[in-house]
Amino acid sequence: MTEKLLSLDNIHHYSVAGKDIKIHTSPDVWSPYSAVEMLNFLEKYNYLSDIENKTMLDLGTGSGIIGIYCAIKNAIITVSDYSQHAVDDAVQNAILNETFIDGIMSDCFVQLENKKFDIILSNPPVQPWLFTDLEDLEHRPTSASWNEAGADGRLVLDALLKEGKNYLTDNGKMIISSSTRHGHQYTIDLLNQHWKNQWKIIYAKEHQLDENYHAPYFSTWLKLQTDDFDLRIYQKDEKGRKFAFQTDEDGQVFMITALEIDDKKTNVALKFNGDYWEVYDKNNNFLMPLSNQDDRMPTKPINENWYYQYFLIECQL
Ligand SMILES: C[S@@+](CC[C@H](N)C(=O)[O-])C[C@H]1O[C@@H](n2cnc3c(N)ncnc32)[C@H](O)[C@@H]1O
Repeated sequence: MTEKLLSLDNIHHYSVAGKDIKIHTSPDVWSPYSAVEMLNFLEKYNYLSDIENKTMLDLGTGSGIIGIYCAIKNAIITVSDYSQHAVDDAVQNAILNETFIDGIMSDCFVQLENKKFDIILSNPPVQPWLFTDLEDLEHRPTSASWNEAGADGRLVLDALLKEGKNYLTDNGKMIISSSTRHGHQYTIDLLNQHWKNQWKIIYAKEHQLDENYHAPYFSTWLKLQTDDFDLRIYQKDEKGRKFAFQTDEDGQVFMITALEIDDKKTNVALKFNGDYWEVYDKNNNFLMPLSNQDDRMPTKPINENWYYQYFLIECQL
C-alpha cells in the first residue's frame, strides 16, 4: 500500500443516494461514471438494505467508490483490481471518507483464491484491447487502457459469470453490470449455463455512446457484431427499432438488427438484392425475404447518435 496519503488536489465529490463520497482522481485510475448509476439504483430498490456486517467483494474497484459506499453502510469490504495503483487509491479514498476497506491486487479472481464473500459487486470493464501493451499487462499508463479487457472486452465479465459462484458463501449473491457492448447474447448464454434459473436482469438503461471516448473502439464493436449479428452498438429509428448499417469484406452494405420471427427475437443480417431484403441468421442461413413495407423493417435513423444498453444482473446461489 502507498505510504503517503493522497494529496487533497483532484478531490471530486459524488452524490450517491444522498451521501457525499469524496474520490481522489488519478489519470490512470478509472473515475466513477456508471458506478453512481449502479449504486443509486441498488440503494433505491433496497438491494443494499441488509449489507451491515456482510462480507463483500468489489472486483475491478477502480477508485473504490462501490466498496467505499458499502463500507459506509457497515459492510466488511474487500476491493480488488488488476491495477495496484487503483487498489492503493481505493484504500486511501476509503480513509478520505472516514471508513476502511481491505485492498488486494488481483487479476480477476487469481489472487483471491480460497476467499469467500456474502456478496460480490462489480462494474467490470468493457472496452476491447486497443491502447493496452499486451506484453506488459500489469503496467498501463491510462485509465482507458486499464479499462480494456480482452480482444472482445469480455475478460473480466466472463470471469465473474464463470467463476463468481466459487467465491460466494452459501446463499451468497453477485450483482454485476454488463452491456450490449460485451455481446449480450453470450452473456445470457453464460448466465443460463453457470447460474441456471438463479439470475435476473434487474435494470436496463440505454446510454448514448460518447464520440470523444468511444470512437476508437467503434470499429472493433462493429467487427464483432458482424460475426454473430448481436448488436453491441446501434442506431434507432422513430419506432425505437435498433439496427446498424455495416459493410462486409466485399464492400457490400448490410443491416444488422433483431427481428421477430415465429414469435422469437432473432439476431439477423438483412441484405438488399435490388428488389427486397434477404434475411440471414448468424450462420448465414437464408431465413426469409422481407419487403421494405414489412412492419418489422427498420426505417432511417432518428439521428446520428449510436447507443448501447447498460444492464445490472443479480445472480443468486
Ligand atoms: C469500468 S472500471 C470500474 C471501476 C469502478 N468499479 C467503477 O465502477 O467506477 C473497471 C475496472 O476494472 C479493472 N480491471 C481491468 N482488468 C482487470 C482484471 N483483469 N482484473 C481485475 N480488475 C481489472 C480496471 O483497472 C478498472 O479499475
